[in-house]
Amino acid sequence: MNKRHFLSSTAAAVLALSAGATLAQDNTFKIGLILPMTGQQATTGRQIEAAARLYMAQNGDTVAGKKIQLIVKDDTSIPDMTKRLAQELVVNDKVNVLAGMGITPSALATAQIATQSKTPLVVMAAATSSITEASPYVVRTSFTLPQASVALADWAPKNGIKKVVTLVSDYGPGLDAEKFFTSRLQFNGGQVVEQLRVPLRSPDFAPFLQKVRDIKPDALFVFVPSGAGAAVMKQFLERGMDKAGIRLIGTGDVTDDDQLNDMGDGALGVVTSHHYSAAHPSAMNKKFVEAFQKANKNLRPNFMAVGGYDGMRVIYEALRVTKGNGGGDALLGAMKGQIFESPRGPIFIDAQTRDVVQNIYLRKVEKKDGQLYNVEFDVVKDVKDPGKTK
Ligand code: PHB
Repeated sequence: MNKRHFLSSTAAAVLALSAGATLAQDNTFKIGLILPMTGQQATTGRQIEAAARLYMAQNGDTVAGKKIQLIVKDDTSIPDMTKRLAQELVVNDKVNVLAGMGITPSALATAQIATQSKTPLVVMAAATSSITEASPYVVRTSFTLPQASVALADWAPKNGIKKVVTLVSDYGPGLDAEKFFTSRLQFNGGQVVEQLRVPLRSPDFAPFLQKVRDIKPDALFVFVPSGAGAAVMKQFLERGMDKAGIRLIGTGDVTDDDQLNDMGDGALGVVTSHHYSAAHPSAMNKKFVEAFQKANKNLRPNFMAVGGYDGMRVIYEALRVTKGNGGGDALLGAMKGQIFESPRGPIFIDAQTRDVVQNIYLRKVEKKDGQLYNVEFDVVKDVKDPGKTK
């Protein structure tokens, strides 16, 4: 047996042992929340942690007689770090649930640990379709890029957009967005004339945007992860692409509520498709946004916050139903099939795929009370992830 194999099988044995050990725990229920709290994806960590704490403040920290303990760890969005932290949380802290996962590579790096230790992994942010297939212990409360992209590819050709260039971050969610937007647009009689990919880390959009200007499509379709949208918007406007008659469209990651209000009036009219807007007109969402802003110096919650808030709901409900008995498999079973109202609208955790089924809204950036919002103008109801291979 080589050294690497020995080490990995030892780690697997320790993880398997710790799966049993969690049963003999005291009266605490531990949630290991791994998030990027610093670095390029730090806004995701800030939003999800704030939402998780809000959920606990509103719903108490005791469920089925167990005291909920939230252990937050910063993985700086480096997947090796996510994996190491997950291992420590399972083996040393004996967490009952792993959660968070700011980007796809972090979720994929952690999936095996969830499987080996039989610990449910609640993915609150990462959105590549295949993540739920990486471990039977993954449950997702965020969204998938195929889910969000297809509605926009149905809307575009009906609204004068036939010739499109796509620009995506060059990794899982970007490739999903590119693939599903392109094939659906083509199916609808439109055309993607160029597919551009920018690096995830420290992207420079300028040379790519110059190329788009030269091609002069009807629209530029963009996917960049939460936190990068403002830079794209700024450079798009600086180059006068809107004045040259090129429309900016994309999944709602680009007009992220965390940044939208600082993007300026140049963002007005941008159409995106997504599962959550802070302007979603439901009583539950109004309450959620108000409470979130009150607790966080007026910070507006974005779609990451909602993934975190609903992820906590899924965990609380699973604990309530199982009364804390039965370990990871029982919890996982009680997470599957949950149906409830989220600030985003009604959602459902598909018991087969463990992925979220939800409404996808078409939205346009408008000014309301002097602030920029993604205002919903149409909805496709109960959208399943179209990216599932089985
Ligand atoms: C991801 O890495 O899966 C991801 C991150 C941020 C987003 C969407 C997807 O806004």
